[in-house]
Amino acid sequence: MEADSDIKSTPKGFHCALCNVHLPNASSVEQHVKGRKHQTLSTVRATRKTQEQHSVFVSGINPVVSQTDIAEYFQQFGPLSDVVMDKDKGVYAIVQFAETDGIQATMSRVEHQMKGLKLRVKLREKKDFKLIPKKNASQNLQQALDRLKPQLCQLLSVNAQMQYVVERFQLGENEKKARGLLVQLLQEVFMEFFPDSQIQPFGSSVNTFGIHSCDLDLFLDLENTKVFQAKSTSEQAGEGTSDDGRSEDSILSDIDLSTASPVEVLDLVAAILKRCVPSVHKVNVVSSARLPVVKFHHRELNLQGDITINNRLAVRNTRFLQLCSGMEDRLRPLAYTIRYWAKQKQLAGNASGAGPLLNNYALTLLIVFFLQNCEPAVFPTVDRLKDMACEEEECVISGWNCTFPSQPIAVPPSRNTQDLSTLLFGFFTFYAKFDFAGSVISLRTGRALPITDFLSQNKEEQATREEASTKSRPHGPKLGPLNLLDPFDLSHNVAGNLNERSQRSFQKECQEADKYCRSLQYQRKSTKGKSWGLVRLFTPQGEVPQAKTEQPTISIPFKSASLPLVLRNELHKAGDGFRLLWFQKVCSAVEGVFQSVLGCHLAPSTDAVFGEGSVVDDMETSSTSLNTSINDSCDSVESQNETSPQGAAVVGAKRQLSSGSEASESPQGKKPRLAKRGKPVLPHWICGQKHMVWAGRRRVRRELIKDTDSRPEGSCMELESKVTAHIIEKEPELKEPLEFKVQPQMVGETESTKAVLQLEPISDKTGVFQDFFHFLEGFLPKMVETLIEKEVGSA
Ligand code: UTP
Repeated sequence: MEADSDIKSTPKGFHCALCNVHLPNASSVEQHVKGRKHQTLSTVRATRKTQEQHSVFVSGINPVVSQTDIAEYFQQFGPLSDVVMDKDKGVYAIVQFAETDGIQATMSRVEHQMKGLKLRVKLREKKDFKLIPKKNASQNLQQALDRLKPQLCQLLSVNAQMQYVVERFQLGENEKKARGLLVQLLQEVFMEFFPDSQIQPFGSSVNTFGIHSCDLDLFLDLENTKVFQAKSTSEQAGEGTSDDGRSEDSILSDIDLSTASPVEVLDLVAAILKRCVPSVHKVNVVSSARLPVVKFHHRELNLQGDITINNRLAVRNTRFLQLCSGMEDRLRPLAYTIRYWAKQKQLAGNASGAGPLLNNYALTLLIVFFLQNCEPAVFPTVDRLKDMACEEEECVISGWNCTFPSQPIAVPPSRNTQDLSTLLFGFFTFYAKFDFAGSVISLRTGRALPITDFLSQNKEEQATREEASTKSRPHGPKLGPLNLLDPFDLSHNVAGNLNERSQRSFQKECQEADKYCRSLQYQRKSTKGKSWGLVRLFTPQGEVPQAKTEQPTISIPFKSASLPLVLRNELHKAGDGFRLLWFQKVCSAVEGVFQSVLGCHLAPSTDAVFGEGSVVDDMETSSTSLNTSINDSCDSVESQNETSPQGAAVVGAKRQLSSGSEASESPQGKKPRLAKRGKPVLPHWICGQKHMVWAGRRRVRRELIKDTDSRPEGSCMELESKVTAHIIEKEPELKEPLEFKVQPQMVGETESTKAVLQLEPISDKTGVFQDFFHFLEGFLPKMVETLIEKEVGSA
């Protein structure tokens, strides 16, 4: 019944207050309350409530008081079920009684003293149970990128950036050593129980693509043990008694390894991990995975580990990836970069193991396949590698031929000399137009087979096998939206877990990346230390360059002292209206910078916006399309505070309006003008720019003023206009012009008056808005000052 009290009806259906989800109808409510999330949260809430009702909060202790001291003191009031202390500070403890009687007895005592300390004992506060919202994945990814950005931006080339990505993420020597020691320890422990067993790491810890904190994949090879164990259990029975008095062999005593199922063996592995390996906890057998696995966590190394027992092929394909890295130095930078890109775009790495995204192994195979298809090829096909191996290197696992040379030296070097940035660009181009739906990718042949050919070929092979009554291999691979055959286990589609959506996202992101790699931002280092090259490529998926909440703004503060004397006098005369007068000067200077200095095209209606007098009238009648965009942008504005604590003025709009945290006020105090759809209108410019007038200005400026002293940026209007003209004349146009909105506001009180310009991209197909904005952040305030001075001087 309690579940019912969480469900509230809303105008659009129902809302579950416990899980914070919207439910459209009664049947979805029914489903939801029976579902796992709701059930788990209900249980957690009930447990918390019981704990709250059964416990007291004790303060007045100090760090020398131990948990046992507390327990000893409080059990005089009733049996305890738990004592929790804040170990770090040693200032409080929560004492939980088995029955509520214990609380009553405790609270009826007037004073509590223990070890000379006067304890304060309170009933627990009743807190509402709230679901803590999960951190937004995209925000986390953005934060990670923000930390990487400064170093990447200052490097000189994309090649250097790619090498940096490897250095930054690869496993360090100490990490490798620590992993090695853990493997050694596990080996020793397992040898005790499974004589002649062998534990072998595979996957990212050893395949040369590991990153800090990647998991430790282990294969416990019990092939030799099966035979030996049968003898050993009978021979060794009764030997080796552990501390708890139990026979160590008792763990194995009733399991015959030769007949046990994989899950039974894994249960045994789990038991050994729990009981015999120090620092190992959170041990779990996951039997539903394609390959059942024991998961564990190593506390000291903060390492997640997985142990499988039927995974000899994984050890072999790890050797294959090691060989590829050894053959070709460019593979690691390429793989680290593409893996990071895919992580940022949420295309790879299924957080909980299962999921519809690419796994890192599949992604690495896609890279190898692309490199097989470069012109000239960087890697030979797996079939060719097989031919390069010598007899001793022949290897067949579960009927699959896994032969390849053990040493890279056996493979002739590639004639391909493309640099890293070109190969990265090539990867995106290759998959941007790849026919995923119609092909099966085979690294063995280095080709994408048309799916129809693959199916008929597979059918024939199956028939031949049946005819020859050979032990039939497992059926063909599970085909889906992305078909990528394992290079050795040809019955396994390593991307078989993808759904249409994840495959489409992968291709869409490749298309976006391909487009971006064609731009100058990919190829050329920003002269201003702004985002370029890999940084933009790594922008998390769904992260529009400027989220609404973080609209880019440029502030121009009112600094009386730096204004020309004439203007200062003029403002002084204006009395209370000085702010508005100053703001109008700033707006007209801003317009001058965009139009005359930076050669931007301004939409005609802007003249009306910042002219004196009844500007809003003109704006509304002069451009319907503008009103549409204005109305949209006002949606959020309108809902915000209309009464200002600080008081700030918006020129043009005629009532209190604010689009930021600082509210605005109307100096005229008139009612707002409403646009046709009844919403208020904020003044703004729509600016267009076809050239990257912000890029390379310093160089051009230096060229133009060769012999004279260099002048600081933004200090001379004529010079800056010439720089712009030069760039427009010499540099190619953007493929698609940049269009953005600039919306000025005056905010703050007398002392803190400032003009705040909000910028918002309208059309930014080439992804240059960010760079332009960063340039304007520095350039615009300086240039506005110069223009105001100039205008006053010429008046
Ligand atoms: P992962 O996809 O976890 O790759 O597969 P990884 O390189 O270890 O990357 P992390 O751990 O996500 O950082 C781990 C290993 O499992 C085997 C491969 O040997 C791979 O290196 N594997 C994985 C397969 O054999 N087949 C598969 O379909 C997936």
